[in-house]
Amino acid sequence: MITRIKGTQDISFDSIDYWQYIEEAIRKITRQYSYTEIRTPVFEATELFKRSVGESTDVVQKEMYTFDDKGGRSITLRPEGTASVARAFVENSFINLGSPTKLYYVGPMFRYEKPQTGRLRQFHQFGAEILGSESALADFEIIEMAYSFLKELRISNTRLFINSIGCPTCREKYKEALRAYYSEKVTTLCEDCRRRYDTNVMRLLDCKIDKEIAGNAPMTLDFLDDDCKEHFEELKMYLERANIDYDIDGHMVRGLDYYSRTAFEIKSSSLGSQDQIVGGGRYDGLVEIVGGKHCPAVGFATGIERIVMLLKSEEISISSSKPDVAILATGKNEAIVGFEYARRLRKAGISTYVDVMERNIRNKMKHASRTGARISLIIGGEEIEKGIVTVRIMRDGSQYKVNGDYMTNYIVDKLRNA
Ligand code: HAM
Repeated sequence: MITRIKGTQDISFDSIDYWQYIEEAIRKITRQYSYTEIRTPVFEATELFKRSVGESTDVVQKEMYTFDDKGGRSITLRPEGTASVARAFVENSFINLGSPTKLYYVGPMFRYEKPQTGRLRQFHQFGAEILGSESALADFEIIEMAYSFLKELRISNTRLFINSIGCPTCREKYKEALRAYYSEKVTTLCEDCRRRYDTNVMRLLDCKIDKEIAGNAPMTLDFLDDDCKEHFEELKMYLERANIDYDIDGHMVRGLDYYSRTAFEIKSSSLGSQDQIVGGGRYDGLVEIVGGKHCPAVGFATGIERIVMLLKSEEISISSSKPDVAILATGKNEAIVGFEYARRLRKAGISTYVDVMERNIRNKMKHASRTGARISLIIGGEEIEKGIVTVRIMRDGSQYKVNGDYMTNYIVDKLRNA
């Protein structure tokens, strides 16, 4: 048997209802906030991620699915969506449409990580980005939108963590302080960290091994210049005015190089070690890095698989995609009539399942129960002869003979109570 690749999932019977529930919430929230959808390719030039996410990040160094195509180009399956959005923004000159540009995306991302609960190699993100605004109002809207989305899904037990990592100027001072802090410890660090010390010292804070040392490192907030400080204060004020609680995590620098100023994460206590459900922040330098003019921007992304896990663990009830009616016809002629009834029901907006197996009525009934249909329509020889149908209410097994001409109205009425 050929099996699926490690770290990927087949999403169907046991969770597809959750996915559709989440997708509906995405459409609703993005419409409410008036963001435009963007669908970028799932693969891009490798250079895009190297330049934007950063050469020394774990994502670029260890986690990318990179290959040469038949034309000898280096291609990478996108590990995240922001770099592609920035590239598309520049390539399509969205800036000419007037600032800001508010975009959202939903789709698969690929990271060669060690698979575990909540961590996959193909996972899906819903993300939103505002390009063109430097204001803390944009940071606030992005965080509020992520919150509204979780609220729409009825998810609770979440906590927002915010930080500011400053602009490149404040960050140089911070990096110096970090280098000084780590200088005596560097020989005791893991191999990756020893390399990061020289190449990109801020990435030391992402280390999953040397966590304790990172926990006592200097905080980014102590190195902010006046403008960055004011920007962060404004964001805090907007959050407070909207009653969105937050904690400050002065060590949160996020694992991608393009961030500046605001960084934030939303975590859930209902998940295990992979507790981060939303990640985001400001990336004022990214558009320039991918070849555009300076354009400040901010955004978030959330992992849909983690949200599915949360909905399940918080036992949030969602409506299922079970049919309203199952049509059970006992022979070929009966089935032809059955399809006609199905057409009428579907036209009336009723979800109708037709059993296309040629088997006896007992087995058809068993199958109808399994589909979860609330009503079965039985069509046998007698029904055809008399121009009637037998309507069976699955909940209590009661049956009614109904004239075929009035069947649709009868079913609509019964479904209100079945
Ligand atoms: P990120 O924190 O790398 O940020 O990912 C965002 C979310 O994607 C995480 O909070 C998590 O829910 C989900 N996620 C990440 N990796 C995996 C995985 N291996 N398996 C399952 N879920 C995963 C970004 O990707 C940024 N582009 C976010 C952003 C948008 N920043 C600004 N705009």
